Amino acid sequence: MADGEQIDMARSQVFGEAADLYDRGRPGYADALVTEVLEYAALDGRPALEIGAGTGKATALLAARGTELECVEPDPRMAAVLRRNTAAHPGVRVRVCTFEEWDPEGRRFGLVLAATCWHWLDPDRRRDGVHAALVPGGAVALCWNPQGVRDPRLHAALAEVDRRHGLDDTPHGVLASHYGELPGDWVGLPGWPEDELRRDGRFTDLRTRRFREELHYGTDRYLAHLASLSRYRILPADRREQALSDTARVLDAHGGGITMGHLSDLLLARAR
Ligand SMILES: C[S@@+](CC[C@H](N)C(=O)[O-])C[C@H]1O[C@@H](n2cnc3c(N)ncnc32)[C@H](O)[C@@H]1O
Repeated sequence: MADGEQIDMARSQVFGEAADLYDRGRPGYADALVTEVLEYAALDGRPALEIGAGTGKATALLAARGTELECVEPDPRMAAVLRRNTAAHPGVRVRVCTFEEWDPEGRRFGLVLAATCWHWLDPDRRRDGVHAALVPGGAVALCWNPQGVRDPRLHAALAEVDRRHGLDDTPHGVLASHYGELPGDWVGLPGWPEDELRRDGRFTDLRTRRFREELHYGTDRYLAHLASLSRYRILPADRREQALSDTARVLDAHGGGITMGHLSDLLLARAR
């Protein structure tokens, strides 16, 4: 992660206005990733902390495996969907605040998870906060789920739409074949924090894993996914709608959806 990295506060706070779209459109994480995290953390009944839980894409998977979780989510609209999605799991507790505001109340956790969220945390404080929240030997799990378009012709047609609307960094801006074997080898996504944790010196036993799946989105779901992304949310509503309807036309002309190579990239580390 680059030194002097700045958080774009406007973009970090736009998720809640589209909480239902987010929940409907966004992909989740591979089951195998959850297995890997829980094996590494070996919680043995200790609770986990999840930062930026959103609508619970990762939370629900962990809770379904019996993990007790304290979830920190600053946006009340995302938190409302999170509560709904985890209503069947009494071991999930939701705190509506940023990680920087969150009070651990003297507790320490066996695992701190941040799924597609690390890059929204204050880069000068996040490692201190995570380290302080962990028992010695406790696990940190940071993950993202980058994607790439399988069909090069569809990729080219969508690139033309993005160019016309001045959009970059879209999920269909990358071809699936771009990704190699190494977790974190992304284009246009937030920096991979392996060096950041290694340089810090308070974390050890770093491990990385990449899980691969294929994911087909119908046009409606894909548009919900795009509309939930901060780079679309910050557009004026009429420009966003135009970009989305042009995208829909291209998808419909290519069979009515998009097939993505869907990755779940995981970085694990342990507090010394
Ligand atoms: C891209 S979403 C990821 C949500 C969820 N973890 C997932 O994987 O779908 C980022 C989340 O981080 C939250 N967030 C932004 N700034 C935060 C902060 N300073 N502390 C905690 N969460 C934050 C946002 O409200 C949003 O729900």
